[in-house]
Amino acid sequence: MPRARITLDRDFTVADVPRRLFGSFVEHMGRCVYTGIFEPGHPDADDSGYRRDVLELVKEMAPTIVRYPGGNFVSGYDWEDGVGPVTDRPVRIDGAWHTIETNAFGLHEFVEWARLADVEVMEAINLGTRGVDDARRLVEYANHPGGTALSDQRIRNGAAEPFDIRLWCLGNELDGPWQIGHKTAHEYGRLAQEAAKAMRFVDPTIEVVAVGSSGRSMPTFGAWERTVLEHAYDEVDYVSMHAYYQEHDGDAASFLATAVDMDGFIDDVVSTIDAVKAAGKHTKDVHISFDEWNVWYQTGLETDDQPTAVAGSWREHPRLIEDEYNVTDAVVVGTFLNSLLRHGDRVKIANQAQLVNVIAPIRSEEGGPAWRQSIFWPFARMSALARGRILRTAVVADQLDTAKYGGVDAVDVSATWDEAAGRAAVFVANRGLDEEAEVEVALHGFANARVVSAEVLAAPEGGDRHSSNTQHAQPVGLTPLEGATIDGDTLRVTLPALSWTVLQLELDRG
Ligand code: AHR
Repeated sequence: MPRARITLDRDFTVADVPRRLFGSFVEHMGRCVYTGIFEPGHPDADDSGYRRDVLELVKEMAPTIVRYPGGNFVSGYDWEDGVGPVTDRPVRIDGAWHTIETNAFGLHEFVEWARLADVEVMEAINLGTRGVDDARRLVEYANHPGGTALSDQRIRNGAAEPFDIRLWCLGNELDGPWQIGHKTAHEYGRLAQEAAKAMRFVDPTIEVVAVGSSGRSMPTFGAWERTVLEHAYDEVDYVSMHAYYQEHDGDAASFLATAVDMDGFIDDVVSTIDAVKAAGKHTKDVHISFDEWNVWYQTGLETDDQPTAVAGSWREHPRLIEDEYNVTDAVVVGTFLNSLLRHGDRVKIANQAQLVNVIAPIRSEEGGPAWRQSIFWPFARMSALARGRILRTAVVADQLDTAKYGGVDAVDVSATWDEAAGRAAVFVANRGLDEEAEVEVALHGFANARVVSAEVLAAPEGGDRHSSNTQHAQPVGLTPLEGATIDGDTLRVTLPALSWTVLQLELDRG
């Protein structure tokens, strides 16, 4: 049985838990908005058309911040189409997903929904087809109190109070040739710099995210971040990262180790940011907004006879990339959240993409039910329990061989400590496909520790690593994990093969 020894020490911490790490993403794509969060006429819809059943699941999952309205969609989107009386709003084509966009849902609806869901709004502007002037106009419309043409238009449209949106994305994936308005790093860097400046002239309190690379394998990765920041370092607060992973050719061992790639990707971006900081003699830090990440079976689009470019075939809210997630995917998602948390000194925002139906932890059917996918669980438990300070994790573990990443630790872990509440949480995945893992956690600097709860996600009774939830049955979820014990300052637990576990501890300062 593989073994791992993890050492936590009260005095070795990384940062306060950035609560915005537990973010999500709602794009006008497929059925995320329409028949996802919004479906007038659905038996569970409220008077505004928001699905209450979906909203309840969102509250249970507890994202803290939600990015909107795209994604690729935003690079061809005119926000003005989505405000004002719904009957006057134009029907448009969305070139990014070849979809018909009715604009029945727009900025006001999203802000109202976000308040019901108790999430912060993270708004993306269109820097694909639009520019500096539109960027500052949108900030004025959203955040200026009143007495100007744009803020009074917002008031006439039903929002007397400013939306007070603090966090703004300066476009989306503009390094990608698929993006409407794709740019070189120089073109984008200058545009981001000027857009950020003009937006701050309207509201100096906002924070802005510059577009980083769409993935670590982009040919421009590294050089893109460097060039963009050489132009815009002083104007921006964050650089974005995006990453999607999937299992290739049944190589589950490598797939289960992909957080190693995520760790390396984050380290690369941190190094690039800091190199620009040093060379430019800047004094402030720029942090990371990992504002799209998830498991995504991208081959799905191709085998569907629908290359991405014609994905929606000019229909309203077509089914797009509605991946059904299994036990393996949930364990991998748990390790991604671990990676983000371990890097909480530099990654301050992260958004799982997306929230409902489109590569999502929550699924819903038109006129039908809503349910939790397997990947719902690690997110929900970590958002609920990761509080206080992030603890450094020193891990000495048996190694598992992988084709892609060589030897990797058999277990993957992150941990937090909330001194005020006298609680700690340990989130730990066993990457071993067939073997249990014996784990010891040394709790240095703590006293009187006891296990409050231990829950595990693993293959369900009679199922296997491919088991998943559907609208008819949801066998994949959390079950109590027996046998976690504490002896002195050592916690011992045996993790089932291929599993993700959360341990909640009560403890004092030692
Ligand atoms: O989340 C799906 C898509 O993935 C987004 O629209 C885009 O930004 C990314 O490529």
